Amino acid sequence: MKSKLILAAIALPLIAVAIAFATTGVFTPPPLQGSHNVLPDAERIHLTRAVGPESLAFDPSGGGPYTGVADGRILKWDGGDWVEFAVTSSQREGCSAPFNPAMEHICGRPLGLRFHPKTGNLYIADAYIGLQVVGPKGGIASPLVTEVEGQHLRFTNDMDIDEEKDVIYFSDTSTEFYRREFIPSILNVDKTGKLMKYNISSKEVTVLLRGLAFANGVALSKDRSFVLVVETATRRILRFWLEGPNAGKHDIFGEVPGFPDNIRRNSEGEFWVALHSKTALVAKCLSSYSWLGRTLLKLPLTFKHLHYVLVGGKPHAIAIKLSNEGKVLQVLEDVEGKTLRFLSEVEERDGKLWIGSVLVPYIGIYTLRK
Ligand SMILES: *[C@@H]1O[C@H](CO)[C@@H](O)[C@H](O)[C@H]1NC(C)=O
Repeated sequence: MKSKLILAAIALPLIAVAIAFATTGVFTPPPLQGSHNVLPDAERIHLTRAVGPESLAFDPSGGGPYTGVADGRILKWDGGDWVEFAVTSSQREGCSAPFNPAMEHICGRPLGLRFHPKTGNLYIADAYIGLQVVGPKGGIASPLVTEVEGQHLRFTNDMDIDEEKDVIYFSDTSTEFYRREFIPSILNVDKTGKLMKYNISSKEVTVLLRGLAFANGVALSKDRSFVLVVETATRRILRFWLEGPNAGKHDIFGEVPGFPDNIRRNSEGEFWVALHSKTALVAKCLSSYSWLGRTLLKLPLTFKHLHYVLVGGKPHAIAIKLSNEGKVLQVLEDVEGKTLRFLSEVEERDGKLWIGSVLVPYIGIYTLRK
């Protein structure tokens, strides 16, 4: 205990010095090899009195995108305007502030969205309310799963649908921390995340993986032989085998140079990973050693300060394309955060990337170069 205090006493001034000098690699993330700084060319579509379009989904007839925002609503882009499509909580009193984390457990906070290709139902991972569904016409979503193994889902985060087996793979980030506590969750090196399977007809839930460090984005492979789950705090993507000789086992699919959020498959069977931020040495240490993170949490720092430390100062944007085998194929950035920042999802559709972020009041659209 004493040695940890001494280490903390040494480490914290070092962090302060690093911040003061913003040394590349220590506090500021180092530049990435082979990356293309093209995302400043993206277009933006602004939201109206709303913020944090975390996940984006198109309905089976190509309408949308739809996106869940911080006040609990799911909005649909109709080509010229955002229209209200659904809410995840029937209680809307006090839910009009675009961003009010203290009300999220009442208003709901929709994160991962996916349409069922056959039924057109929209499935929603609401951080506070659990796994939900709403019909193709929208309205108030109905709860499907609110607790697992006797524990309330505390931070439901993302999902993918296998419409042939009619099952949903979904993640719960933590049994200890709420979404609004995502920074304390990272700094405490919480490892209570889960990957689960929900059977639509039997309504049964099976836990596939537990003990995950900030379980986040979920994506099924094109041939449905494996499902990926992002582990944000370890900056890894895990692969859980559903079929073949390794069925039931998992391995590391890929590692990324930052904090990954959602992961989405394109029509080729490749995967786009959205990174909240790249990580410098300070952020890596803080998300690996809980005594260090907990010490930082004891200091009189606001959310903004802590976020600043974790993302290494300046806002930026980064999206990484991985092959079906987990090999890095492409790295796209907005190095200075000119147009986009703090990405949460990248959805490829007809030669364009549709890009969400949990912190900004707009979505991005980037046209891929041939
Ligand atoms: C889902 O539940 C139904 C009904 O119990 C069962 O027949 C089916 O095999 C289950 N599907 C999967 C993929 O487990």
